[in-house]
Amino acid sequence: MNTIKIHYTGRESLLPAAEIIREGGIVAFPTETVYGLGGNALDPRAAGKIYAAKGRPSDNPLIVHLADVADAEKYCHTDRLFFRIAEAFMPGPLTVILPKKELIPDNVTGGLPTVGIRVPSHRVANELISLAGLPIAAPSANLSGKPSPTSFSHIEHDLDGRVDALIDGGDCEFGVESTIIRITEEEIVLLRPGAVTVEMLSLFCDKLTVDRAVTGKFDGVPLAPGMKYRHYAPDCPLTVLDGENRAVYDFLARTSRRGVICFDEDLAHIDGEYVYSCGPVGDSLKQAQRLFSCLRAFDGLRGIDRIYARMPSRSGIGLAVFNRLVKAAGFDVRRL
Ligand code: TXA
Ligand code: MG
Repeated sequence: MNTIKIHYTGRESLLPAAEIIREGGIVAFPTETVYGLGGNALDPRAAGKIYAAKGRPSDNPLIVHLADVADAEKYCHTDRLFFRIAEAFMPGPLTVILPKKELIPDNVTGGLPTVGIRVPSHRVANELISLAGLPIAAPSANLSGKPSPTSFSHIEHDLDGRVDALIDGGDCEFGVESTIIRITEEEIVLLRPGAVTVEMLSLFCDKLTVDRAVTGKFDGVPLAPGMKYRHYAPDCPLTVLDGENRAVYDFLARTSRRGVICFDEDLAHIDGEYVYSCGPVGDSLKQAQRLFSCLRAFDGLRGIDRIYARMPSRSGIGLAVFNRLVKAAGFDVRRL
């Protein structure tokens, strides 16, 4: 397939991409979290193309992206808590799961009676949805199982030749996918951590629970189907090291043919060619922005057999960094 590449230079530059979406095609576009691969959310064939281009299991539902929160009622059953939360965090990096209306085809939600609603704040995403005049169903624009794309080169690598168009809108602001919550009148359940944090959400509801699939290996049926698949995996195996500086440095000094993902402060203490920092130890936002690029940086390297990553903090957006990292490691955490 010939893939058109569009460099964003303003609203006008998105007209061909909006036309492609209206005609049933699929387009990768930037959002404030990660790049998404979008198609008309009202067209089951467009959803079919998205699953095929990503190689994604069709029971893993797509998020529906809107230009305006006010449109949510057309596609799902909203409630008071939704609007309170939406007022605080939408547009922004949050997805809310609500009971879907008929208009949303069953294959968009992987057969579930609910739909994930998100209103991205990224200018390109917002303008694309407005110009298309349609809700856009979009998963992250990576091949299934690979780290999510946070820069144009990532979507070019994964999807060139597999989709109708790729839009270059620069690097993503948060670097981890949106926070996903399920809400009822009395309770918020966190299904996937992101830049809208537990700390921020807990101000809106007395009862906030974190789905078990967020923090550990979970063999049951997770509330977000996507949480059951191996995710974010680099080409070679990854182990997360949980320990004090000295123990980690000593352990790494005894290993060879390995790559390392660490913090800025560690760089002076770890030898070797493939040692990458994802940011200062105390800066979880920077770590979120860089994590997926770090994971992708090892792909194709022949000099390493395993990647070791340092355990990040779990507070604020750090919980999202932790969640993506341990999932990328297939929950292989080594306590030193
Ligand atoms: O930031 C994001 O959310 C990005 C950008 C492109 O918006 N999108 C994204 O989509 O991360 P995806 O498909 O890679 O991840 C969506 C997750 C999956 O784990 C899926 O199972 C879950 O959301 N999900 C979607 N709809 C759901 C539903 N109705 N009920 C439960 N989980 C749902
Ligand atoms: Mg994804």
